[in-house]
Amino acid sequence: MKMDDRGPKERQERIEEKLARMKTGQEQEAVQQIIDFNKTPADLKVVMDRFVIGQEQGKKIMSTAVAFHYRRLGQALKQWLAQNDGNIDVALRQTMTPKANIMIIGPTGCGKTYSSETASKMVGVSFVHEDMTKFSEVGYVGQNVTDILLDLLMAAGGNTTLAQMGIVYIDEIDKIATETTAASTCRDVSGRGVQKGLLHLVDGTENAIQIGKERISLSTKHVLFIAGGAFENLEVKVKKRMSRQGLKGDWRQFLMADDLVGFGMERQLMGRFPVRVVYDKLTTNDLKDILVKSEDSALLAYRDDLKAWGIDLEFSDDALTEIAERAEKEGTGARGLISVLHRVLLEDMFRLPGAYTGTFAVDRNYVRDRLG
Ligand SMILES: Nc1ncnc2c1ncn2[C@@H]1O[C@H](COP(=O)(O)OP(=O)(O)OP(=O)(O)O)[C@@H](O)[C@H]1O
Ligand SMILES: [Mg+2]
Repeated sequence: MKMDDRGPKERQERIEEKLARMKTGQEQEAVQQIIDFNKTPADLKVVMDRFVIGQEQGKKIMSTAVAFHYRRLGQALKQWLAQNDGNIDVALRQTMTPKANIMIIGPTGCGKTYSSETASKMVGVSFVHEDMTKFSEVGYVGQNVTDILLDLLMAAGGNTTLAQMGIVYIDEIDKIATETTAASTCRDVSGRGVQKGLLHLVDGTENAIQIGKERISLSTKHVLFIAGGAFENLEVKVKKRMSRQGLKGDWRQFLMADDLVGFGMERQLMGRFPVRVVYDKLTTNDLKDILVKSEDSALLAYRDDLKAWGIDLEFSDDALTEIAERAEKEGTGARGLISVLHRVLLEDMFRLPGAYTGTFAVDRNYVRDRLG
């Protein structure tokens, strides 16, 4: 070896060593966090309430499921580590915990993905969001369901231990339903295939993923799966069944795996999502509350932005009602708020900074004026 090669090589080794140490440190910290996890369902809901508006029943069910999942995992890990040599990877494989994956049903933009992501942040675990529409396209050949694991591994910064304790959110799961009546077969074939793939994934104690030449084994035993879908017209179907069977009451209380199977979902897959929760369509009042109460509110963000230019943005109550009503008409749930608000403020956000300081009041007439 030439003299001048040694420097960079040693440096490289030092960096690698440091990175490895950091990785182990991060891992220990994250594992410790799960072991110490002691938030109650009520604790989680209090935090969720700061962000997710409405969906009282949904938030209750979600926070209970998430709190129990991580508490149980934490306790199991603690016990195993106390009795054995402390190898976390082995501990994850050996610990047995019953798992209750969650299925969220509800209209678009009502907070299904949002509340799941909020929950993952509260626990501090890796979170991936996977859209099933990309797997259901006609002519689907490429993407493999196990790619989801790759995404999870990335979200965990390449750390397999962290990946194995994360949350996978499976969005638009109803898009991989097989058509039970229609003649179309393309979507059926891929839909069923994707559902079978998901079943393996959700169940999978050992899943092999290939990265270049390296083969990594990932267990999803402790991964919490949350599936979300609009399941349009499911309500009608359940109500029909209820009237056939002479059942009365809130359809949500009577929702069964059978109804989802009737929608075109595989029974075995639905069996793996025993916690079912139906989210409500957001009302005008909810939408208004989202604007002023959710800590992630677009309105609050705009207000902070303008404040930095010395402009105090103020919305009258009737202006907020008007925006909420317009947003509701868009039929995209809370997503409509962002587009409506943006249309109302666009001109002013361009015009005011640098040209005006002080209070900037927006009332109903102003909103109507801007939106036409
Ligand atoms: N209940 C709610 N409280 C506060 N904000 C909400 C609520 N629901 C939705 N939002 C806002 O709207 C955005 C879109 O919601 P989200 O992604 O959760 O929709 P979704 O229910 O998953 O719909 P889709 O079926 O279209 O995927 C969120 O990022 C959030 O900002
Ligand atoms: Mg979503």
